[in-house]
Amino acid sequence: MYMKNIFLLGMPSSGKSTLGKNLAREIGYEFVDMDKRIELREMLTIAEIFSLRGEEYFRKAESEVLQSLPADAGLIVSTGGGVPCFHNNMDAIRERGVSVFLDVPPKMLADRMMHTRKNDRPLFPTDDAATLLEELERKLNVRRAFYEQADVTIEGETDVQTLLEVLRHLSVI
Ligand code: S3P
Repeated sequence: MYMKNIFLLGMPSSGKSTLGKNLAREIGYEFVDMDKRIELREMLTIAEIFSLRGEEYFRKAESEVLQSLPADAGLIVSTGGGVPCFHNNMDAIRERGVSVFLDVPPKMLADRMMHTRKNDRPLFPTDDAATLLEELERKLNVRRAFYEQADVTIEGETDVQTLLEVLRHLSVI
């Protein structure tokens, strides 16, 4: 059966993995977490890849993992926050399925991130709420142009039911 892939894009803590997992369960698609695929492939955590091999290496690995995904195979893919912004990855995403940008305000991202261990987020290595918010705003400003190339943008906090409605409306599922 023909099933489009659905790529979830957005900043760290925008809900890609949680929503992706729930959506996949709901519609019987396979869930793919790109960060987990990279960790398995490299036998290192994301933080270790950044510190031992550097960001450039990580971005290349990320792009290779993306290229390895089959087109339209019924996958829900949680992309790493930087995926759309490097190596023409938006082209690779377009060739492989439909994309949804989860546009969550920086303040909400910062609040969620304050509950994750800072060692797990190499790009945002601070526990200071104000600094974290500033860094998220700065990064999102740079990335927005890439994220907005997604087929659909969902603003603010969302849930699986809303995501399902949007996808049905667009005849994706
Ligand atoms: C990154 C986001 C992370 C992970 C890596 C880099 C980014 O993934 O890929 O730390 O550049 O925003 P999540 O968005 O799943 O946290």
